Amino acid sequence: MPPEKIQKSLKILGTGTSLPERVMTNADLEALVDTTDTWIRDRTGIEERRIAPDDASTSTYAAGALRAAAENAGVALDSLDAIIVATSTPDTVFPSTACWTQRALKLPGAAAFDVSAGCTGWLYALEIAANLLIGGTAKRIGVVGAEVMSRVLDWEDRSTCVLFGDGAGAAIIESGDGSQGLLASNWGADGTLAPILYQPAGGTQMPASEESVADKKHVVHMEGRTVFRHAVACMVRSTQEAMAAAGVEPDDIKLLIPHQANARIISATGERVGIPAERTYVCVQRYGNISAATIPIALHDALGEGRIERGDLLAFTAFGTGLTWAASVLRY
Ligand SMILES: CC(C)(COP(=O)(O)OP(=O)(O)OC[C@H]1O[C@@H](n2cnc3c(N)ncnc32)[C@H](O)[C@@H]1OP(=O)(O)O)[C@@H](O)C(=O)NCCC(=O)NCCS
Repeated sequence: MPPEKIQKSLKILGTGTSLPERVMTNADLEALVDTTDTWIRDRTGIEERRIAPDDASTSTYAAGALRAAAENAGVALDSLDAIIVATSTPDTVFPSTACWTQRALKLPGAAAFDVSAGCTGWLYALEIAANLLIGGTAKRIGVVGAEVMSRVLDWEDRSTCVLFGDGAGAAIIESGDGSQGLLASNWGADGTLAPILYQPAGGTQMPASEESVADKKHVVHMEGRTVFRHAVACMVRSTQEAMAAAGVEPDDIKLLIPHQANARIISATGERVGIPAERTYVCVQRYGNISAATIPIALHDALGEGRIERGDLLAFTAFGTGLTWAASVLRY
């Protein structure tokens, strides 16, 4: 075999998460909407999710995850050259949640910006960060996925409110020595399908008004079944393309870390790309769908459980609003 080619050298120095303390179980949801624990488990795999208190916002968790990741990496937060926050539930329309995160951490100086790519956001952010490292723009970057999805849910709509949760995950990455990093990655989007999963109001298309609030336009609107179909198709294609570009086979992947939206989407994806359940990481039962935060949280938890060692080959794959998708193969 020819020597492995690391296309984008980078090293993940440390990871961290920050989650609200409050656990909302499926039984709690039974008291809110016409649903059952059995329906939610069977259709989604979700058992519980974390819900933020009123005085917390997305930057609360982004800051917490970044602090934890820096501690885990053994580096000072002020050594970061850039902070990238992937989110669809920003603190404010402007400035970015990354800037609010800097404020929460009392950490001015580094470049700070958000990436808006829905549940694919963290993989988009990782791709951007990898290129910033290669281009020499930055040497060390905090890549965060953070959401407070509970603020954009209609708590009377059983088809959406049972699916999501709040929290953040982060990784500190820096330029590698060529032995670790991305073997291959891809990303894409289909904006023609934007209306199948979106928050209609609050932006320039539909600014906030009494009517937009009364009509519940500030919450997640989703065609669940259509989204499901696209999610599996996009994640399968994207993962297969990344593995082919990396020159690796499904059996070479130590752990597949997919976006955590629904256990059925995850198992269908793993099955079709040829990576069995034993080598696919699942934590959707604990957290529900935390959009851009699911992959860094899953990575952190998998590391904590000893499922990943230095040098292992990992595959990431995600899909989200946009539509957006991305996948990458990484030598950890
Ligand atoms: C939302 C989702 C779980 C629904 O599962 P589904 O099997 O597609 O179910 P359907 O939407 O077809 O609805 C089936 C029935 O369950 C009902 N239902 C929906 N939510 C329910 C709930 N929480 N409890 C009980 N019944 C529910 C529907 O009203 C429908 O009833 P009907 O047949 O009488 O009309 C599934 O479509 C999904 O996971 N989609 C992707 C969502 C996602 O991951 N989004 C983010 C992508 S990043």
